[in-house]
Amino acid sequence: MSVRIAPSILSADFAALGRDVAMVAAAGADWIHVDVMDGRFVPNISIGVPVVAALARVSPVPLDVHLMIVEPETYVDAFVQAGAASVSVHVEATDHLHRLVHRIRELGARPGVAINPATPLETLTEIAADLDIVILMSVNPGFGGQAFIERSYDRLRRLRDLLDRQGSTAVITVDGGVDPARAEAVVEAGGDVLVAGNAIFGAADPTAAMAALRAAGARGWQARGSR
Ligand code: DX5
Ligand code: ZN
Repeated sequence: MSVRIAPSILSADFAALGRDVAMVAAAGADWIHVDVMDGRFVPNISIGVPVVAALARVSPVPLDVHLMIVEPETYVDAFVQAGAASVSVHVEATDHLHRLVHRIRELGARPGVAINPATPLETLTEIAADLDIVILMSVNPGFGGQAFIERSYDRLRRLRDLLDRQGSTAVITVDGGVDPARAEAVVEAGGDVLVAGNAIFGAADPTAAMAALRAAGARGWQARGSR
């Protein structure tokens, strides 16, 4: 395995989503990261179930759905039915995380949990072994193009330890403010999957930006392996 790249379509051209998904897929995207926002859990509204269903019909790579919504239990069935390969819910958004994680798996998708910058990592201890993905938020969710929070490096290292201690095989996705200049350090600290919106879709040459992310990620992967 090596580092995976998941372009976030939040920064894509919403009037040409199919074209942009095809472009990053051709450039080697491993997953397409889909940010779902409800204007309540986060102060922004983005896309919902019909858009995921439309993308699932055309995307050559799996859709990685990140739910930034309150009461995610109300919607996971619909997102999996729409074609999400993985569904991540926020640890801060539900009182019954265990039930929800197992529901996502029962529906046939890969369950993930996302965690905000100020939430103690220990809230994941009891669920870690049941997860396929942990999304470590390196910005406060709600918007693309925000600055990476430096403390995330330390959180990444501690999350990696926590997952190992719990015998969890979950991959760590790093979400927010990731660009080629940070990718090496992010992966060295424990990131397995790099979400990038602005760094890819905001670049003059998105294909070159993806190659730069992958190359930097590979260096971080090597540094991590040789530790
Ligand atoms: C933040 C979203 C992220 C975001 C990443 O609320 O969850 O996926 O779109 O975008 P960049 O890479 O621009 O920070
Ligand atoms: Zn996201």
